Amino acid sequence: MNFELTVLPVLDISGDLEVIIVVDANLKHRFVQDKKLLTKAGFSCKQDETCLLVEKNRLYVGATSLKSSDIRRAAANAIKRLMGTTYKSVKVATYTNKGCTYTLRAMVEGFILGGYSFETYKSKKNESKIKEISISLEEYSELDIDIEKASLLVHKAQITADATNFTRDIVNTTPDDCYPDVMASIAEGMAEDTGLKCTILKSKELKEEKMETLLAVARASRHKPRVIHLTHKPKNAKVKVTLVGKGLTYDSGGLSLKPADYMVTMKSDKSGGSAVMGIMKAVAELKLPIEVHGFVGAVENMIGGDAYKPDDVLVAKNGKTIEIRNTDAEGRLVLADVLCYAQQEVKADYIFDFATLTGASVVAVGHYTSSVMGNNKEVQNLVVKEAQNAGELATALDFNDYLKKTIKSEIADICNISDTRYGGAITAGQFLSEFVDKRHADKWAHIDIAGPAFVEHAWGENPHGASGAGVRMMVKLIENLVRKTDSNN
Ligand code: BES
Ligand code: ZN
Ligand code: ZN
Repeated sequence: MNFELTVLPVLDISGDLEVIIVVDANLKHRFVQDKKLLTKAGFSCKQDETCLLVEKNRLYVGATSLKSSDIRRAAANAIKRLMGTTYKSVKVATYTNKGCTYTLRAMVEGFILGGYSFETYKSKKNESKIKEISISLEEYSELDIDIEKASLLVHKAQITADATNFTRDIVNTTPDDCYPDVMASIAEGMAEDTGLKCTILKSKELKEEKMETLLAVARASRHKPRVIHLTHKPKNAKVKVTLVGKGLTYDSGGLSLKPADYMVTMKSDKSGGSAVMGIMKAVAELKLPIEVHGFVGAVENMIGGDAYKPDDVLVAKNGKTIEIRNTDAEGRLVLADVLCYAQQEVKADYIFDFATLTGASVVAVGHYTSSVMGNNKEVQNLVVKEAQNAGELATALDFNDYLKKTIKSEIADICNISDTRYGGAITAGQFLSEFVDKRHADKWAHIDIAGPAFVEHAWGENPHGASGAGVRMMVKLIENLVRKTDSNN
């Protein structure tokens, strides 16, 4: 999708079709030229509702307000409505929230995110045919918009949304086509394109690094595990951020096998690692002046004669012993070792991990929201705030001492599952906290994306399947860290 910005009014620019966002049901706005027809067609201006007037070459879409999240969704649904049509180019005006141009960024993100479809396995493709989008700087409230500022925002939106779609593609790819070595190759290819450094740890290095819990989870699979380390290291960077992602290319549950219905969609258990790859892509393309490291534990959790077992005791990289009582709680084992490795390699100012870690997170907060945990309320709140700014839903879940006691073990330092079925997202987070060293304890947040990472219906600007959860929130957070450090200097 190409975007072109122009100062000409919408009327004077070309495009096969005009998209008009009807804000707050205001059909009297000067952008709405077809009030009578829209009323006749029963268009009630609800958020995301569309009305295509073919003979007028105009598509109307409703938005509750000028808030970025509403405009992003509206733009996405407008483009979705055009799937299967033959329109190739679109023109649209600029909508800002009282001059705040973030809404322009949101609109462009919406067009790219809404235009996404995963067609790899379809014989007959139904991809969006819209290739050109012309944006007039004629503004909804007749405000003047600086074209340079606007074009920078369009550029940032393109990078962020393309990175989200990159993540979606990896997650949607089937386990037979995307196993750990393939994930590593995708990372290497992306690093080559963007100028990131990429190091891949294979079995030999993983043994040398004593990543025995990760290796145990991987053991029964014919696909060997990989740990991916991507580095973005600009000169004179003042802040260091470490990202860690769970990259289970398939989670069968292992010997504590998942029931059939729950195993379907477990190709999405690589969403955390895929998000880290998407974030790294965006950070490199945006050339952010912050040092960012992305670590991905890419592993397949399978059954077999040499599978790790409930009753095993494993030793993690930091020397802690873990009693295994359920092999389906494998993500925390992989992350334990990758977190230790990441902290050994980089002394960071912030460390964020992304994982489809627990079904309990989905039970607690629903399908559309990520759970944010950690030892430090400020860091937790920072993630929640930036997620919301970026158009993702996230909420904080707090640790407590009583739940911490439920992951005690009689025979090892810690158990990989809790002795209660309640509070499972939190106990999983508290398990991870055992592998975050003192130096990083207050700089760490764990983001359980099990809910939004993969949803089997379209929602908001997201399609059926992978959403790319985590990418937009973290790109925004890192961008704002740049701003904060700039203003401190
Ligand atoms: N990958 C799953 C968690 C998951 C569930 C992600 C649903 C996305 C949607 C994870 O490895 C898992 O199986 N967790 C168990 C933990 C339990 C055994 C303590 C779970 O959530 O049931
Ligand atoms: Zn599992
Ligand atoms: Zn899992």
